[in-house]
Amino acid sequence: MEVIMERSAQSAAQLAAEQVACQITKNPQSVLGLATGRTMEPVYAKLCEFHEKYGLDFSQVRTFNLDEYVGLPSDHEQSYRTYMNNHLFNRVNIDLTNTRVPNGMADDLEAECQRYENEIKESGGLDLQLLGIGRSGHIGFNEPSAALYSRTRVEVLTRVTLMQNGPLFGGSAKMPHHAITMGIATILEARKCIMLVTGTETADVLAKAIEGPVTATVPASVLQFHPRVTVVLDSLAAVNLSHKEYYRWAQEQKLDWQRVQYPPLHASE
Ligand code: GLP
Repeated sequence: MEVIMERSAQSAAQLAAEQVACQITKNPQSVLGLATGRTMEPVYAKLCEFHEKYGLDFSQVRTFNLDEYVGLPSDHEQSYRTYMNNHLFNRVNIDLTNTRVPNGMADDLEAECQRYENEIKESGGLDLQLLGIGRSGHIGFNEPSAALYSRTRVEVLTRVTLMQNGPLFGGSAKMPHHAITMGIATILEARKCIMLVTGTETADVLAKAIEGPVTATVPASVLQFHPRVTVVLDSLAAVNLSHKEYYRWAQEQKLDWQRVQYPPLHASE
């Protein structure tokens, strides 16, 4: 696990966006796994900027979002489809038919989950998965006790998650209590994962996830099993980590070929 500690939330988001941009530049037909939430907003803003300034080309990119609320029409203002359209898809040259968000309105939710899994497989699998972390320790909407081998399915949200996201709906009672989420095994099959965490709210659970034991009680801790994970943090999110000194040292010692730079040196402003 690579842990990168940036000074500010903005520079952490920039770094995560650079990694996504490099992936797209390396393979214009990349299959991206995307996340939602406030933390991701500056990442998508940066990607839009890269598209406008440097022509970052999304025309052949395919995307799969981690999750969607059950019972929320896709055009609802709090649906993750709306979020993605507003923050990224409508602002870059992506083909909307290449973007997937689970359908939380499907009559047969189980069939929808299976269809989503199949589509990810048929696309060749996720090249890069972006992740945030919830206060409950969730990734996607895999809440504590989620099976480590779980696939895309309907999950019951914890009260902690309802408290966290409730204000966006005008109160937790008004928000859906269920969501379709990629499973933990689905996420772990991505070829690379980037987890971005900023701010103090999730600093506690983040420390458990990356320095504690792997446990279903902290779903994000399963990322310790993944061979290619980069965790990008700001200084507030990193506050409870015990091995900060080593993470800093490891970054300083990084070999040139391991460094990511976007835009590439030859790009003109
Ligand atoms: C939601 C999403 C998660 C995301 C989390 C963090 O619960 N399902 O994928 O990581 O929000 O949200 P925020 O970035 O707003 O803290």
